Amino acid sequence: MQIFDSIKKMQEWSLQARKQGKSIGLVPTMGYLHDGHLSLVQAARRNCDLVVVSIFVNPLQFGQGEDFEDYPRDLSRDTDLLADAGVDAVFAPAAREMYPAGFSSSVEVSGEITRKMCGISRPGHFKGVTTVCTKLFHACMPDKAFFGQKDAQQLLIIKKMVRELNFPLEIIRVPIVREHDGLALSSRNVYLDAGQRQEALALNKALSQAKEQIAGGERDIARLKDRISGIITASPQAEIDYIEIVNGEDLSELEAVDGIVLIAVAVKFGKTRLIDNLLVEV
Ligand code: PAF
Repeated sequence: MQIFDSIKKMQEWSLQARKQGKSIGLVPTMGYLHDGHLSLVQAARRNCDLVVVSIFVNPLQFGQGEDFEDYPRDLSRDTDLLADAGVDAVFAPAAREMYPAGFSSSVEVSGEITRKMCGISRPGHFKGVTTVCTKLFHACMPDKAFFGQKDAQQLLIIKKMVRELNFPLEIIRVPIVREHDGLALSSRNVYLDAGQRQEALALNKALSQAKEQIAGGERDIARLKDRISGIITASPQAEIDYIEIVNGEDLSELEAVDGIVLIAVAVKFGKTRLIDNLLVEV
C-alpha cells in the first residue's frame, strides 16, 4: 500500500493507474477509522480496480468552538487497518499541503439543501466539506467516490455539487453501519461516557419506531416528530438539535410522509453531538 502526503504524487499515481485502464474508488475520511469506514472500503473494492482512502481532518469544516483540535487521530493505526483491508493507496496530506498560505478559494452549494438541519447548527460546515471534497477529487481523480448514508445531508450536497459542476465521477451511497445494539458508528462515539452511550441508543430506537408507525399507516409529520422527540427526551442528558422528516432526495419540506422520505435527527449528549437517520419509501 502506497502512502502519499503530496497532491502532485497522488495525482501522478492516479494518472498512471488511469492510463493502465484501472478504475479508482475513493473513500474520503477524516481518519480514526471504524467499521463504518471499512464498509465504504469494501464497497469501493467491489466496484473499482483500485481503492484510495484519504485521511485528512479538514479544518475548514469545523466551526469555532467545535472539536477540530480534539478530533481523534491515529494515522498509524488507520494505515494498518487499511493495509489489512487491501487498500491500494492512502492520501494523507498535511493541512499546509491542502491549504497553503494565502489559500482563499472555496466551492459552495447554495439553496435549501445547505440551509437547513446541520447547515443551521454548523454554519460554514458544508462549504468546508464541498471545498475539501473538490480538492480530494482533483488529487485522487476517482471514477467513483463512496460516502456513508449516516451523513445523509453531506451525501446529497456532494451529489448535487458533482452533478451541477460536472465532476467526472459517480457518488455511491453506502448504508449506515451500527453497533450490535443499534448505535450508528461514528468516530465521535469515543467522546461518550458509558451513561451517555446508553442514552444515545434512543436515537435508533426513535427512528425505528417512526419507521414502524409509517409502515402501520401513519403519514402525519408533526405527530411522528412528537413521538421521536418523546423517546429522545426520555434520556435526561439528550439535548435535541433537530428532528426532520423531509424529502429523501433533496431535503425539501413535505406536507405528509410520501415517496422517499428521510427521517434525520441531531442530538447532543453532553458535549458530543450525534446524528442519525433512516430512509423510508412509501
Ligand atoms: O464525512 C467525513 O468524514 C468528512 O466530512 C469528509 C467527507 C471526509 C470531508 O472532510
